[in-house]
Amino acid sequence: MLLVRGLLLALCFSTGCCVYTIRLKSFSLGGFSSSALQLQLGASQRNQTASGSGLSLASDPSGAVNFLDMVNNLRGDSGRGYYMEMVIGTPGQTLNILVDTGSSNFAVAAASHPYVTTYFNRALSSTYQTSGRAVAVRYTQGNWEGELGTDHISIPQGPNGTITINIAAILTSDGFFLPGINWQGILGLAYPLLARPDPSVEPFFNSLVQQTGIPDVFSLQMCGAGVSVSATSEPAGGSLVMGGIEPTLYQGSVWYTPVLQEWYYQVEVLKLEVGDQNLNLDCQEYNMDKAIVDSGTTLLRLPAKVFDAVVEAISQMSLMQDFSSGFFAGSKLACWVKGDSPWRFFPKISIYLRATNTSQAFRLTALPQLYIQPVTDVDGTLNCYRFGISSSTNGLVIGATVMEGFYVIFDRAHKRVGFAVSTCAESDGVLMAEIAGPFPVDGGCIGSFPLQEPLLWVLAYALMGLCALVLLILLILLLVPCHRRQRDGEITDQSSLVRHRIK
Ligand SMILES: *[C@@H]1O[C@H](CO)[C@@H](O)[C@H](O)[C@H]1NC(C)=O
Ligand SMILES: *[C@@H]1O[C@H](CO)[C@@H](O)[C@H](O)[C@H]1NC(C)=O
Repeated sequence: MLLVRGLLLALCFSTGCCVYTIRLKSFSLGGFSSSALQLQLGASQRNQTASGSGLSLASDPSGAVNFLDMVNNLRGDSGRGYYMEMVIGTPGQTLNILVDTGSSNFAVAAASHPYVTTYFNRALSSTYQTSGRAVAVRYTQGNWEGELGTDHISIPQGPNGTITINIAAILTSDGFFLPGINWQGILGLAYPLLARPDPSVEPFFNSLVQQTGIPDVFSLQMCGAGVSVSATSEPAGGSLVMGGIEPTLYQGSVWYTPVLQEWYYQVEVLKLEVGDQNLNLDCQEYNMDKAIVDSGTTLLRLPAKVFDAVVEAISQMSLMQDFSSGFFAGSKLACWVKGDSPWRFFPKISIYLRATNTSQAFRLTALPQLYIQPVTDVDGTLNCYRFGISSSTNGLVIGATVMEGFYVIFDRAHKRVGFAVSTCAESDGVLMAEIAGPFPVDGGCIGSFPLQEPLLWVLAYALMGLCALVLLILLILLLVPCHRRQRDGEITDQSSLVRHRIK
């Protein structure tokens, strides 16, 4: 996860001559207290009604789960994250929990912190059991440390029933909880391999599937596209559908891409286009060192080389010669006079993903409405926007910027991620996202995905043999330990895993 803060941003006026630096207010907590109160009332009511029939789903694995009950169970936006209400412990304590498909721990604030309005008080829960094990997770922005335990949880707008899950009680943190957020914990929805301190700590969704019998799939609709990120506006919201797919949340067809490795939701990007122009980079550049789908990352993040090519192409096509590079670097906002929308100046961006038929690809297209993002009114006469794409040193991340255009289906049962155009990705009657396919795959990203062709296997083994021989010779001749080379890209290496976790 990586959340963007709006702290000190310089403003760049596209009109050219003058570049002002304006101190933007950080997202303040104002306006959240009344909605938090409503949430708590709603939760306690539901607790009472759920107690009678709460376990029906567990004893009836084939029982119908009503997906419509889960529609609109999220609030939030790309900048502050999307979060869901959960009830933890006995008696239940209601907290808002950030939905993050880029990590695998369920962790909640268990001590007071200036930026959380409430926290999980373990002493008040009769069902909390500590394991005595310490746990720590680091992100680019922030980290936390705490203690592992288990407790009962229920989800007011989720599958019926109470389940027992692993909980990391956050005792100390640094830069993890931010001003203006309205959540107090994080729900990591990725695979066990990413769980801290080790994969034996069963992640929430694995426990949910096992204990309720719902199908091993969840889907996400995030509705913040085109909504200005500001302190006063009500967060947009969205839906986390657990156990299946809700047809009213998308339109058109669903395209699936295989999950390459079950740790993050790692997928394979085959091509990028800006406008109709193919960036023409070697497709390995797009997957260097991985490409993942992550709801907890705010922006579309691209490996440095890809990012530079995208910015170059956008600058050429946007017809704005005097555009400050600070805008693309993320340090400046671009502002237009109110009423003048900048979107017509910018090209579409398309990401080609491998289809489940591996000789085909499909294309996700983000219109500028998705990646040129309104931020906030600065002085009432200007509309300001941030660039929703950033440079990355640890892989390509399909974050909220792109996900907000699509209904994204995490079909773990079939080891694939599906995309369809979201019903809430509409601005003034114009869809902000498109999906199309199939496209033929010419060649492929050899080395970054499991080889399919027997001939390629032979080739791969031959190359590996040659590589081993070369390494052996180097070892003998240069007396240099070469084993480090072989570890590159290996995901079971704990230290590299920690490094990859940092986004
Ligand atoms: C939970 O159970 C109630 C009562 O049986 C039912 O109306 C509701 O749709 C169920 N919720 C879900 C998410 O299945
Ligand atoms: C996969 O795609 C190829 C190329 O478009 C096509 O010829 C083939 O029939 C497809 N396979 C399946 C199983 O649909």
